[in-house]
Amino acid sequence: SSPLPVFNYDEVTKHRSLEDGIWVTYKGGVYDITEFVAMHPGGNKILLAAGGALEPFWALYAVHDQEYVLEILSQYKVGEL
Ligand code: HEM
Repeated sequence: SSPLPVFNYDEVTKHRSLEDGIWVTYKGGVYDITEFVAMHPGGNKILLAAGGALEPFWALYAVHDQEYVLEILSQYKVGEL
């Protein structure tokens, strides 16, 4: 399979609304989570990470420290940083 595109951080920060798409980064990966937002068990808190890094939030909410959460995230990968 062909490699995913590389985005710079400025491009990620432009995606922070349902209209423009909601992107986040995690460990060097870029994820378009627009379709997941409405399914998030933690509700709209997920939008705090819109256009930026998940790490600081997942450090606060340890409920994400589970393999199945990473499996969900991986479905939305669109690129690398
Ligand atoms: C819960 C996924 C981002 C806050 C959860 C759960 C999943 C999930 C699967 C349920 C965990 C369980 O109980 O087994 C994700 C994914 C995210 C994301 C895939 C990013 C793409 C965030 C962010 C925040 C957040 C950025 C906070 C700023 C919460 C909270 C809960 C939760 C507070 C607990 C909800 C409850 O049990 O009442 N998330 N999350 N999440 N999430 Fe997220």
